[in-house]
Amino acid sequence: MHINDKANTETYLASAQRYDTMKYNRCGESGVLLPAISLGLWHNFGFIDSIQNSRNILRTAFDLGITHFDLANNYGPPYGSAEENFGTIFNKDFKSYRDELFIATKAGYDMWPGPYGNWGSRKYLISSLDQSLKRMKLDYVDIFYHHRPDPNTPLEETMLALADIVRQGKALYIGISNYRPEETKKAASLLKELNVPFILHQARYSLFDRWVEDGLLNTLQDNGVGCIAFSPLAQGMLTDKYLNGIPKGSRAYKNLTYLDKENVNQNIDRIKKLNEIAKSRNQKLSQMAISWLLFQKGISSVLIGASSPVQLKENVASLQNLTFSDEELSIIKKVIS
Ligand SMILES: NC(=O)c1ccc[n+]([C@@H]2O[C@H](COP(=O)([O-])OP(=O)(O)OC[C@H]3O[C@@H](n4cnc5c(N)ncnc54)[C@H](OP(=O)(O)O)[C@@H]3O)[C@@H](O)[C@H]2O)c1
Repeated sequence: MHINDKANTETYLASAQRYDTMKYNRCGESGVLLPAISLGLWHNFGFIDSIQNSRNILRTAFDLGITHFDLANNYGPPYGSAEENFGTIFNKDFKSYRDELFIATKAGYDMWPGPYGNWGSRKYLISSLDQSLKRMKLDYVDIFYHHRPDPNTPLEETMLALADIVRQGKALYIGISNYRPEETKKAASLLKELNVPFILHQARYSLFDRWVEDGLLNTLQDNGVGCIAFSPLAQGMLTDKYLNGIPKGSRAYKNLTYLDKENVNQNIDRIKKLNEIAKSRNQKLSQMAISWLLFQKGISSVLIGASSPVQLKENVASLQNLTFSDEELSIIKKVIS
């Protein structure tokens, strides 16, 4: 995939103000600070997308102090293409900033055919990270996640593979994603025995999906592990985008993944009510949804997606108002309960 000629010749110089406004939070009890807002490359970075737009989003993110980029082996489509595009852009724009970046990838979902391209075996995880590093043109990632629990592989095998990945120098830290509280507790205990820096759990968390409040956040705090909240805007529902229907080109319109028109229609009354509360705080709904997450205890970072630099700028401006009155919290609670 090639970046167009004009952009090819244009050298990227990161904004000198990039650390002026972003907030950085300690990740659990580790030494790592994460930006309050991180950028995920699940959508908008595959071969089906404009690489020039992807590049503009990444540049805007870094200029705003977003130092954490989140990938996975199968992001695209097609699988692997988000990592490959990221590698192309990284090589042109970010190579000299490598030590200012905290880059993540994962393995755990379907990636290649046959018995070794999915779930949580040692065979899959080690091969997958080797492939990811090649695609991203990196020597190591800052954090490598097991993307989801595997009910059929002993947890000991998966955790030992993660530990060996750290010992091989291919990842500095370890994370897990989509593990329930009990599974998280066991993983934390194994990784502790293996002396591995397990610092982050990546979990879906938004005003519309609060399952983490039911034990996971407490488990993470008990183990000194941070939480990074993914799909904080419920894939775009918690923005003003769907207030007047389903716009062409939006994620619900494209029907690419778990968000479809039906989800939006089912939630539209709540979206409208939350939008009014956001207005009374002088925020956009997207900004209130992000601020609300950052107001919760134990959230190290909110992991957003964006299809344009404009969205990214709007979302980062949520940092201007991170507090909530008791009254606001109780009205929000009524709407989402
Ligand atoms: N660990 C896991 O299992 C897992 C699963 C899912 C995601 N993730 C990670 O979490 C990241 C974020 O997930 P997500 O993309 O679902 O997050 P999200 O922030 O809830 O949704 C992002 C989408 O919302 C819309 N949007 C964002 N800002 C907007 C704004 N200001 N105004 C209007 N619309 C706006 C855009 O959609 P349009 O295209 O409609 O403009 C954007 O692509 C992923 O990239 C990935 O790194 C991890």
